[in-house]
Amino acid sequence: MGKGFYVSKPVAAVCVVLAIGAAATIIALSLVYAKEKSNNEGISATTGPNTTSSPATTPSMPKEPWQHYRLPDSLVPISYNVTLWPRLKPNADQLYIFTGNSTVVFRCKRETDLIIIHSNRLNLTTFGKHHAELRGLDGAAVPGLRKTWLEVPTQYLVVQLESPLLAGSMYELYTQFVGELADDLGGFYRSEYMEDGEKKVVATTQMQPTDARKAFPCFDEPAMKAVFHITLIHPHGMEALSNAMNYDPVNITMDGDNMVQTSFRPTEIMSTYLLAFVVCDFGFIDTVCVQIRIWARRKAIEEGQGNYAMEKTGPILAFFEGYYNISYPLDKSDQIALPDFSAGAMENWGLITYRETALLYNPDVSSNGDKEWVATVISHELAHMWFGNLVTTRWWNDLWLNEGFATYVSYLGAHYAESDWNLPDLMVLNDIIDVMAVDALTSSHPLSSKEEDIMTPEDISQLFDSITYSKGAAVLRMLSDFITEDVFSKGLHTYLEEFKYKNTVYTDLWRHLQMAVNKSSIELPHNVEDIMNPWILQMGFPLVTINSQTGQISQKHFLLDSKLAVDMHSEFNYEWIVPVTWIKTGGPEQQYWLVASTNTDMVLGTDDWLVANINMTGYYRVNYDSENWKRLLANSLFTFQEIPVINRVQIIDDAFNLARAKIVNITLALETTKFLAKEVEYMPWKTAISNLNYFFLMFDRSEVYGPMQAYLNKQVTPLFNYFKNITENWTKIPDKHTDQYNQVNAISLSCSTGVEGCQDLTRRWFREWMETPANNLISPNLRSTVYCNAIAAGGVKEWDFAWKMYKNATIASEADKLMSALSCTRQPWLLNRYLQYCLDPEKIRKQDAASTILIIANNPIGQPLAWDFIRANWDHLFNYYGGGAFSFGGLISGVTERFSTEFEHKQLLQFKEDHAEQLGSGVSALEQALETTQANMKWVATNKNEVLDWFNGEASV
Ligand SMILES: *[C@@H]1O[C@H](CO)[C@@H](O)[C@H](O)[C@H]1NC(C)=O
Ligand SMILES: *[C@@H]1O[C@H](CO)[C@@H](O)[C@H](O)[C@H]1NC(C)=O
Ligand SMILES: *[C@@H]1O[C@H](CO)[C@@H](O)[C@H](O)[C@H]1NC(C)=O
Ligand SMILES: *[C@@H]1O[C@H](CO)[C@@H](O)[C@H](O)[C@H]1NC(C)=O
Ligand SMILES: [Zn+2]
Repeated sequence: MGKGFYVSKPVAAVCVVLAIGAAATIIALSLVYAKEKSNNEGISATTGPNTTSSPATTPSMPKEPWQHYRLPDSLVPISYNVTLWPRLKPNADQLYIFTGNSTVVFRCKRETDLIIIHSNRLNLTTFGKHHAELRGLDGAAVPGLRKTWLEVPTQYLVVQLESPLLAGSMYELYTQFVGELADDLGGFYRSEYMEDGEKKVVATTQMQPTDARKAFPCFDEPAMKAVFHITLIHPHGMEALSNAMNYDPVNITMDGDNMVQTSFRPTEIMSTYLLAFVVCDFGFIDTVCVQIRIWARRKAIEEGQGNYAMEKTGPILAFFEGYYNISYPLDKSDQIALPDFSAGAMENWGLITYRETALLYNPDVSSNGDKEWVATVISHELAHMWFGNLVTTRWWNDLWLNEGFATYVSYLGAHYAESDWNLPDLMVLNDIIDVMAVDALTSSHPLSSKEEDIMTPEDISQLFDSITYSKGAAVLRMLSDFITEDVFSKGLHTYLEEFKYKNTVYTDLWRHLQMAVNKSSIELPHNVEDIMNPWILQMGFPLVTINSQTGQISQKHFLLDSKLAVDMHSEFNYEWIVPVTWIKTGGPEQQYWLVASTNTDMVLGTDDWLVANINMTGYYRVNYDSENWKRLLANSLFTFQEIPVINRVQIIDDAFNLARAKIVNITLALETTKFLAKEVEYMPWKTAISNLNYFFLMFDRSEVYGPMQAYLNKQVTPLFNYFKNITENWTKIPDKHTDQYNQVNAISLSCSTGVEGCQDLTRRWFREWMETPANNLISPNLRSTVYCNAIAAGGVKEWDFAWKMYKNATIASEADKLMSALSCTRQPWLLNRYLQYCLDPEKIRKQDAASTILIIANNPIGQPLAWDFIRANWDHLFNYYGGGAFSFGGLISGVTERFSTEFEHKQLLQFKEDHAEQLGSGVSALEQALETTQANMKWVATNKNEVLDWFNGEASV
């Protein structure tokens, strides 16, 4: 699936006035599967009228094949012929439905008297007393059907036969069914929007990971690849799209209505989770040479919002063709922006689906961040067209390889299309640093899981987290760095060639990369598999400690709270083979492979300093002896340009995290922010702000707040003036992409710490807009922070104006900015009213409800309100949103972020007790929140006085 479902862009980009620059909020995607509590009783997956009820299940000890979550290996699908007819108007019961039929041709591999095929929430037509019809092919004899039923817990249609199917023979199974075209964002679902005062309905799909079975009965596992012949029935004037190109549509009559039947060419051999069907009234733009089309609401297309995506898709596809050295596997590439979509995007083969903000771009209203988002998400999805779609991992336990890889190379593809944005560097900020914070908790997990540990749809959904995406990307970036990009891509090429249209496990990639290394001049101390396995089979990462006085270097598993780690070291020894790169004063980069603790020549002369993990290409943190820290910080104060910008980021981030783990003193971390008074680069500022965000979370309700504000005011004032100067008194947009970002930091932090002139500026811009609503002159890049600051400084008048603009916004990214800014108010009643809006899909779309609650919780005044709100409404939220994509995990971790008292810890325990049966995908997030709260309590107790003294001292210098 596309990224963007776990870092919610509007949340990441929001400026919260008091808690400056929200650290990217991790929202684990959780397609929560409702267990039998569907809100569409009429046609949900209940058993049919003529069915004998299924044998009682004992979930702990599955005895029967249909009680296993994995399909038996006796049958292999060859092809499907599927016809679907979505109704875009409600029926007499006010339900939106679809009807369809499907024929699957399969080969029997092992003799069996059972056909087990996935089917979920489909009401199957019966033929006599059975749910399906079986035919033999090529003269194969057809056994009689003994019994058929729907096995609800494991989501199967089960067909028991009178006599066995024969190994080597082919059969086909025919079914007819009705399903609900619900607004639940999963399977075949509907999305709605208004155009010219008219409600329009789109029928679309999201199959990954396990919802193809909700559209038609299928062998719904990634290794069950087949060819799909899809047909869609739809009204005249509507477009029908699927993975492959369509044949000429034909007119047909259905139930007395004139309809159009559009059939599609057979797909390539592919996995069910990559299927997509759309029926819509959208417009498109296209190119002639390669068949690339961008689809969206007609208005959006007419306004040119698809042009940027159109312009960049060709170059990015060309980049990947070169990178993989394999031409694009399909003959067309459709990309479609949907008004309602749960993830950021989905890499359906040939028909990629997106949230509108991930595909559409409007230069008049979208910021440079929005543009970067579009470029990197497109790049991520296009990368999957080969890696993931052409070659697919066998089972979901290797999801990290699929998603980590696409995340890593998305930066390379987007860099090709936008070469002056420094995208590969930004990966350190956007993915690596954030995930290291998660991976340093004892509640983290290894990248790779065992196949047998990932069984149920819930198990699979929980894998879609930042470890899978961002840590996956980080370790592949490290690997690509030490074997070189060139060797890496050569290995990819042979891997893709060997396994095209097939499935793999991660060791297949290691084998191909090893072959490429063997053919090159690269020398490694161990083979690729031995180096990489500790990074993917063990959770966490090492802390490398270098003593520059003795040259001794060692490693240790880095945990934020090592006391909690007592019993977890049983299975692994937590050692890694670490590629340590380093420079010392004025010298070239050197490399050292660290395995066991040893002495090296990393010994410094009297005035030298040393820095390791150059450009943070290694997935580890570094600590030094205090003498080197002292020199490094003194050096960076005056000549920090000698240290590469990514290492300035690293020094700040390592120091703060080492301090949180109590390995260095908290004041050492704070010392790393002193050079910011002279820093104008975006990445170090952003890192410092993110790390200080923790100080805001812990202290923005205490007496530390004042002195901290005074210190930051002092540090950021030069940056504010720098931007005032280079933008000629705020009239010009900075040229550099990262300067455009840092201008936002300068304004956000300056306004929140009271830098002279900042509030006046944002208030004036907002007032001008309120006077002429049709003419918003606020620069798109600055809108988030300007809206937020003006709403925080204002009252109900400003809030209501912004709400009106939000409801009228026709551009999704603009709506997102307003949605975030509305949470910045300091009026509790406005925040409470806004929370109530989250229960009303007419006000806040279902897809946005979780992130809206989260951004409200990000505001220190909103936080207790949001916590009360989710406790009061948990049952409702769970029942109402449980069936679709709603991130309970993200909600829990976001709302409890500030928790740092015994009282709050008790509340969390109480919450766990009250809702033990109703946590859905939030179970592990709740455990994490409990752990984090305890760590926060200790941290505040230990550090508060020292931090207060330090800020007091520095603020008065
Ligand atoms: C199909 O029906 C539409 C609308 O009724 C009509 O305009 C079109 O000519 C028909 N096409 C064919 C091939 O009959
Ligand atoms: C570190 O990154 C910078 C910026 O991307 C790049 O110019 C430099 O060559 C890199 N250094 C090394 C040693 O790779
Ligand atoms: C202001 O910017 C100009 C270039 O735009 C530069 O030459 C000048 O030194 C800057 N002044 C200050 C005070 O930063
Ligand atoms: C910015 O405004 C100040 C006075 O407010 C003025 O002195 C200065 O010349 C202006 N600079 C530019 C580049 O317009
Ligand atoms: Zn992906």
